[in-house]
Amino acid sequence: MASRHPIWVIVAMAFVTTLGWGSASAQLSTNFYSKSCPNVLSTAKSVVQSAVSKERRMGASLLRLFFHDCFVNGCDGSILLDDTSSFQGEKTAGPNQNSVRGYNVIDQIKSKVESACPGVVSCADIVAIAARDSVVLLGGPSWEVKLGRRDARTASLSRANSGVIPPPTSTLSNLISRFKAQGLSTRDMVALSGSHTIGQARCISFRPRIYNDSNIDSSFSKTRQGKCPRTAGSGDNNLSPLDLQSPTAFDNAYFKNLLSNKGLLHSDQELFNGGTTDSLVKTYSNNPKTFNSDFASAMIKMGDIKPLTGSKGEIRKICSKIN
Ligand code: HEM
Ligand SMILES: *[C@@H]1O[C@H](CO)[C@@H](O)[C@H](O)[C@H]1NC(C)=O
Repeated sequence: MASRHPIWVIVAMAFVTTLGWGSASAQLSTNFYSKSCPNVLSTAKSVVQSAVSKERRMGASLLRLFFHDCFVNGCDGSILLDDTSSFQGEKTAGPNQNSVRGYNVIDQIKSKVESACPGVVSCADIVAIAARDSVVLLGGPSWEVKLGRRDARTASLSRANSGVIPPPTSTLSNLISRFKAQGLSTRDMVALSGSHTIGQARCISFRPRIYNDSNIDSSFSKTRQGKCPRTAGSGDNNLSPLDLQSPTAFDNAYFKNLLSNKGLLHSDQELFNGGTTDSLVKTYSNNPKTFNSDFASAMIKMGDIKPLTGSKGEIRKICSKIN
């Protein structure tokens, strides 16, 4: 190589590699559709707004949809694909089935955007935009969403079931390592967990915590037990708010709850249980601005996970089906 290329070519190549110009996420940009579909952001916002005004929880559901898309082979819209006779998607995976919601809202945005600019905007990007709009509508921070992701032509049920999306029984060290595997720091993990300041969880997700954990406020566990019977199989789908104080407001109450042992999921309370993340939980509980700004940065980083760009994947016409 050294003999066939002048030294400046080698230096330039090393430079490009170092800057990460070869990596797909660097090809995302906030103005990706500014010429090709200038109304995509306003269209998405109005659909999310009407969905959230009908049901505030939908904002939480749309935020989680983005997380579960990104953590399984990157932010590529794979979670949106329906099963067919010849194809098994991710919707029936353990972390998703009877739990992930919001697919209809994404389909609605897609159909409006498709009539304005056919074949231009990916479903993966619509999910990223809807997550941001949801957080803003519920009172959280805003950020500029990087765009230009393309849609997968595949999905992976086995990967979605493999633990890449950590379960609510996770230890702190599992949470840290699952986020690290996606290129997200411990700080990103704690900030992103602040998502649990909105939305609901099923009894099956927190039953072991409210009956077996000792690091839980006793009046809180009693109250939660009232709607979540001890016996497996009974009341599994009964819902409780992840944040007992303000489950439809994106604020820092989640972290305040952790300080008083009122995290609903076992994994939530792991963030404040005598370990390395205690101090950050305290910081976020006292400084909503720090939480908001770390949350926004971490959402942008999460959106950078392994996007398909260039000629990879496709722009789906309908988000639940490959073209
Ligand atoms: C840190 C590891 C995480 C674990 C173990 C976890 C686990 C869970 C579980 C078990 C539920 C309840 C699901 C159900 O019972 O149906 C839930 C709900 C939720 N999660 Fe997480 N999650 C994590 C991180 C995140 C992240 C990173 C986000 C977003 C960026 C997020 C957003 C949400 C939201 C908004 C809800 C409520 C959804 C709704 O009401 O529809 N979670 N999570
Ligand atoms: C509590 O822990 C015991 C012992 O590990 C287990 O048998 C039981 O199923 C757990 N109860 C709940 C509600 O998770």
